[in-house]
Parts: sequence; structure tokens; C-alpha cells
Amino acid sequence: MGIQSIKKHLYRFGLLSLSLLIATELSAATGSKDKKAEKKSEKKVEESDDGSRYILNCSECHGFDGNSISPEWPNIAGLNKSYIIRQLKDFKEGKRVNEEMTQIVKEFPSDKELASLAKYFSKQKIINPNTSETIKQYSLVDLKLGEEIFTGKRIEYGIPACSACHGKEGLGDNEGKFPRLVGQHMAYTIKQMKLFRSKERSNDTPAQMRNIALKMDDEDIESVAAYIAYMSIERD
Ligand code: HEC
Ligand code: HEC
Repeated sequence: MGIQSIKKHLYRFGLLSLSLLIATELSAATGSKDKKAEKKSEKKVEESDDGSRYILNCSECHGFDGNSISPEWPNIAGLNKSYIIRQLKDFKEGKRVNEEMTQIVKEFPSDKELASLAKYFSKQKIINPNTSETIKQYSLVDLKLGEEIFTGKRIEYGIPACSACHGKEGLGDNEGKFPRLVGQHMAYTIKQMKLFRSKERSNDTPAQMRNIALKMDDEDIESVAAYIAYMSIERD
């Protein structure tokens, strides 16, 4: 099978699962009332609410199932839906800046299309991209230090436990305020910590991450990122 036909196949599959999702929501919303009204609202949903036509755009970088093939791009599978929506809106409103993402969201969907995309990716299964080889690429990694940072043993240096907000297992919360950290490309975790530190990423109102990253040197950052990557390896 060529790449094109795989893409086509995947695309159809995506459309199917999304339309199923939407159909389920619709039938819950409309019940079995007027068939005509139901048809009408179904059409409306197809035209304006369904973000599925964008999945292929996203999959170029993030993978069709939200697991990206290159550490250049974050995994977005299984991230909390509200977190995804907030990030996409932040990119759209210029509160979070990244050339690639900003361009995508500019030509972007209505809020409903956006929510439908967020729902789709939040339901995908995360596949841990990190291996012990990944960790070996970084020269400053000290796993013991990483563990100490993560669990709050470096509080005297002004670094609070990552686990206090992101959860003991780094899985994040259910509301989407604190994102899941495990199962993410280690390179992306490092990049985000450095972006928070330089304040190039500043959508973490009220500066929770910026204040923490400011207290961390490169060794701290690589070490905690490795620990997070290591945690997720152990879980799989
Ligand atoms: C050309 C590549 C590219 C495309 C296409 C793309 N993205 Fe992204 N996306 C990125 C990059 C790069 C980042 C990380 C930005 C950064 O470093 O801050 C990102 C970040 C994100 C994030 C934030 C993840 C997090 O953990 O905070 C979400 C959510 C996201 N993208 C969703 C989407 C969706 C939905 C689409 C399709 C509509 C899409 N992206 C299309 C490259 C892309
Ligand atoms: C006081 C709460 C709090 C603590 C403690 C905390 N974080 Fe965060 N973190 C946040 C919030 C809130 C966000 C999401 C910001 C946003 O909405 O864009 C975040 C986002 C992140 C992100 C970006 C994730 C993504 O998908 O883009 C990384 C990486 C991260 N934190 C790592 C850490 C590490 C490592 C530690 C420990 C050294 C830590 N955090 C401690 C609150 C916290």
C-alpha cells in the first residue's frame, strides 16, 4: 500500500469515527422527535461543527492518531480536551506563539470545529515515544536529580514538586488545567521548559511554570525531562 492510499484509508477511518461521535451526540441531543428537524440539524453539524476535515492537516505533524513521528512535534493523543482547546485558542489569539501552529489556527475552524478536533485527539491512545536511547542523547542527565526535582526534594532551591500539580504519575488532572507530562517526547518537554524560562511561552497564567523554570538550570531541566521520560517507559 502506498503512502497516499494509507493516508486515504486513515482519513476515511477518521471521518467515520468522528461522524460516529457526532452522530451519538446528536441523537442524544435530539432524541427521536421530528425526523425532518433531525435531518436539518444533522446537515448543519456536517457543514459547520465537524472538524474532521482538518485532521489530515494536523496529522502531517502530530500523526493521525495524535502520536507524532518526530520529536519536533509534540504528541497530542490523550491530552485533556479542555487543555487542547485552551492551547489552540491561545495560539489563535497570539498568547502562545509558534510559527507552525499559529499559521494553522489562523485559517482555523469555528470554535465548534475546534472542540470537535480536541475531542478527537483527546480520545486517542498515547504511545510512549521515549526509549533509553532517547535519554542517552542528552549529556546533562542525572536521573536521581530528576526524581528529586519531580517529587519536591529540591524545594529549598525554589523548585516545587512537579507532582504537586501534574500528579504523582505525571498524568495531569481531569479538568485540563495541568497537562499530562508522561508519554511526551523528551525533546518537547525540554523545549517547553526552556521556553517558559525565557518567557517565550507565557500562556501559563499566572506564571506558574515561568517562575519554576526560572529556578532551573539546563542540568535540572534535562534531568527532570529524563525522569519523566523514564517514568513513562516504566509504565508501558
Ligand atoms: C506544521 C506542523 C504542525 C501542524 C500541521 C499542526 N501542528 Fe500542532 N504543533 C506543532 C508544533 C511545532 C507544536 C509545539 C509548539 C511549541 O513548541 O510551543 C504544536 C503544538 C500543538 C498543541 C499543544 C500541545 C501541548 O502539549 O501543549 C496542540 C494542542 C496542537 N499542536 C494541535 C494541533 C491541531 C489540532 C492541528 C491541526 C488543526 C495541528 N496542531 C497542526 C506543529 C504542528
Ligand atoms: C503550581 C503548579 C505547577 C507545578 C508545581 C508545575 N507545573 Fe508544569 N504546568 C503547570 C500549568 C498550569 C501548565 C499549563 C500551562 C498552560 O496552560 O499553558 C504546565 C505546563 C507544563 C509543561 C508544558 C506541557 C505541554 O504539553 O506543553 C511542562 C513540560 C511542565 N509543565 C513541566 C513541569 C515540570 C517539569 C515541573 C516540575 C519542575 C512542573 N511542570 C511543575 C503548572 C505547574
